[in-house]
Amino acid sequence: MVVSCNFFTLLLVLAFSVSLCFGNKNSGGYLFPQFYDHSCPRAQEIVRSVVAKAVAREARMAASLVRLHFHDCFVQGCDASLLLDSSGSIVSEKGSNPNKNSARGFEVIDEIKAALEKECPRTVSCADVLALAARDSTVLAGGPNWEVPLGRRDSLGASLSGSNNNIPAPNNTLQTIVTKFKLQGLDIVDLVALSGSHTIGLSRCTSFRQRLYNQTGNGLADSSLDEAYARQLRTRCPRSGGDNNLFPLDLVSPVKFDNYYFKNIVASKGLLNSDQVLFTQSVGTMILVKQYAESNELFFDNFAKAMVKMGNISPHTGVNGEVRKNCRKVN
Ligand code: HEM
Ligand SMILES: *[C@@H]1O[C@H](CO)[C@@H](O)[C@H](O)[C@H]1NC(C)=O
Ligand SMILES: *[C@@H]1O[C@H](CO)[C@@H](O)[C@H](O)[C@H]1NC(C)=O
Repeated sequence: MVVSCNFFTLLLVLAFSVSLCFGNKNSGGYLFPQFYDHSCPRAQEIVRSVVAKAVAREARMAASLVRLHFHDCFVQGCDASLLLDSSGSIVSEKGSNPNKNSARGFEVIDEIKAALEKECPRTVSCADVLALAARDSTVLAGGPNWEVPLGRRDSLGASLSGSNNNIPAPNNTLQTIVTKFKLQGLDIVDLVALSGSHTIGLSRCTSFRQRLYNQTGNGLADSSLDEAYARQLRTRCPRSGGDNNLFPLDLVSPVKFDNYYFKNIVASKGLLNSDQVLFTQSVGTMILVKQYAESNELFFDNFAKAMVKMGNISPHTGVNGEVRKNCRKVN
């Protein structure tokens, strides 16, 4: 214990020196929570206050901001590539299948970034803003807290194809979803815990309609979906039309970050096919769903760890990338 403590302290001291010597370019190539302690001491406080204001205006914003970090990290790493608008050679990821008419919260990120630019210009990256906003949103919704490793730099480009291919679709098989997580270095413990962020937020009818009417092409509803719940969903998610009608991902406590998402799945009331298959398509993930349904503490613990792991996906550091002035465009 004493040894690992000292080793950790040493690492921190090294990390600090690196950030001081290299003018906050993070040439050390790794992330640590104290990254802005000297260059922008109020950075975390500023992010938290803007997020708190936005979530007070609209509770759903907490969910939308958590999702932005996920959709950023799964495409060329956590580098704010998601935030770039189309211009010149850049084709925005905002137009991809998972994001189109769906990803939201970009104005809140702009508001945070504007406040940070005022306090300490060209210092805090947009990728770090996404990571902090995801953590703050989780806490505000009643979920776990964790220290966010920082020092990511922003990309100089975006990848529409990466966004289409790397982010799982709601009708992917469990095997496909597991593979897409594995490609990012995330295992099934991470997958099931992170899916637990569907304890908050909303889904459009179009994301789960297939389950209500014609799951396997035989004209029948998904048999793993509770029949009464399916009937209820069909009233506002018709065979055609109503694509953008909204439904809570967690029907019991839609704005509270808790483990009802897992209890719902155990009761055959997962909204998305990708939620329910965690329980029906493999024993390994089924056991995890049951454990998280039984222990909020275990869920919170594993969620926080998995969020840090997801936030560490291929960060741009050192001379790679930049700190954008405006999250929507390269400098
Ligand atoms: C495991 C594979 C996943 C799939 C297939 C998936 C799919 C989806 C879909 C289809 C929606 C609804 C979008 C819409 O209809 O507009 C959604 C919403 C959401 N997802 Fe996921 N998701 C996955 C994992 C994750 C992860 C890892 C996170 C975060 C760590 C996350 C966070 C959210 C949140 C918070 C919402 C609600 C957003 C809002 O209300 O604005 N999802 N997801
Ligand atoms: C999944 O949904 C997409 C978009 O709605 C659709 O094009 C595709 O055929 C579906 N895939 C399966 C296997 O049902
Ligand atoms: C269900 O889907 C299959 C294959 O996509 C299609 O051939 C069939 O007509 C659909 N049935 C109904 C009732 O919509």
